[in-house]
Amino acid sequence: MLFDPRPKTSRRELYDREDELQALEDFARRGSPLMVMLGIRRIGKTSLLRVFLHESGHPFIYIDARALEEQGYRRESLYRMLSSELTRLRGKWAGLVEYLRLLEGVEIGPALVRFDLVRRLPSLIEVFSRIDEWAVDSGRSVIVAVDEAQLLRYLRGGKGRIDFTQIVSYAYDHLRSIRFVLTGSEVGLLMDFLGFNDPGGWLYGRVRDELVVARFDHGKSIDFLENGFSECGATYAGSVLEEITAKVDGIPGWLTYFGYYYCKNPSPEAVQQVYEEAKTLAIDELRKLPSRYYALALKAIALGYSKWRNIKQALELWKGRPLTNAQVTRALKALSKLSLIEKVGDRYKILDPIIAGAAKEL
Ligand SMILES: Nc1ncnc2c1ncn2[C@@H]1O[C@H](COP(=O)(O)OP(=O)(O)OP(=O)(O)O)[C@@H](O)[C@H]1O
Ligand SMILES: [Mg+2]
Repeated sequence: MLFDPRPKTSRRELYDREDELQALEDFARRGSPLMVMLGIRRIGKTSLLRVFLHESGHPFIYIDARALEEQGYRRESLYRMLSSELTRLRGKWAGLVEYLRLLEGVEIGPALVRFDLVRRLPSLIEVFSRIDEWAVDSGRSVIVAVDEAQLLRYLRGGKGRIDFTQIVSYAYDHLRSIRFVLTGSEVGLLMDFLGFNDPGGWLYGRVRDELVVARFDHGKSIDFLENGFSECGATYAGSVLEEITAKVDGIPGWLTYFGYYYCKNPSPEAVQQVYEEAKTLAIDELRKLPSRYYALALKAIALGYSKWRNIKQALELWKGRPLTNAQVTRALKALSKLSLIEKVGDRYKILDPIIAGAAKEL
């Protein structure tokens, strides 16, 4: 179902994205060792990645770095996720797991591939090197995909910790058949973490493939809604399509959200009701911003203060005291790195109209 609110995993449920799937396939076959998939929240990165992984036929390891958040960003948690992925792979690619058998600290039981977290934990470089040997010997590419990869930065920091960029850079130099796909919705933070422009970073100056996942244009947005409505059998006035597309500006996640709730309760008031709910969801997300200044800067932009000088004035008015230039710039930089805003000429703009609506109420 197109309006299924979960990330899609099958081609049948994914609308469009032919070119993006082809780009991923080209990358898997002959690209650089690293692909960075970029796009704002709800644009469909996870869906695209998962459909590609499930349908392309390449063996893959999929890590959702958000799962580490719950477990406190521990190295052991990453290994646990890896072991469950290897256990899954074992079903189809038994040979791959055999290559790991020679590695000290890997236990291969009848039903489980497990790492020895206590006595001898092999490094990820050792693990990926063995996987690469299998991939080379069997003429395949293994895809290692990390969703919300910017969160891996929290695993860094000395002994017993993991710098994933070091592993990718090792793969870059020594492994021929492992390809990494990293994606994240906080684009600036992801790029900072990867550090392509940081002379002190492991990936400094490395070539990578980049795939920017864009919003649907107006025609596709309408077509997406029409297809979804016909699947769920909802009756609707033609104006509903325009009303929804005007509110969400081609962001597939919001189109899906509106479609899902409209199908459940089709009525003339439904679009406005769903809009209010979407805004409430967005407000909850924005309340998690790490600083009140960030929220206020976003609110200022939402209310039409789009130039730096005007944003500063609005913030000072609300705070009731003068702010330093650095404070304002820091807030705007942080919002850009979170992919909430972008600067066009000398004006700042919010990238998602629902977020803009929500920000007015912060
Ligand atoms: N091309 C598409 N076809 C059908 N549904 C889609 C498509 N792209 C996204 N969706 C739907 O939109 C919602 C958001 O998609 P997804 O989770 O893949 O986006 P994301 O960019 O990973 O979002 P986030 O940044 O929040 O992780 C999901 O409900 C998904 O099913
Ligand atoms: Mg996602």
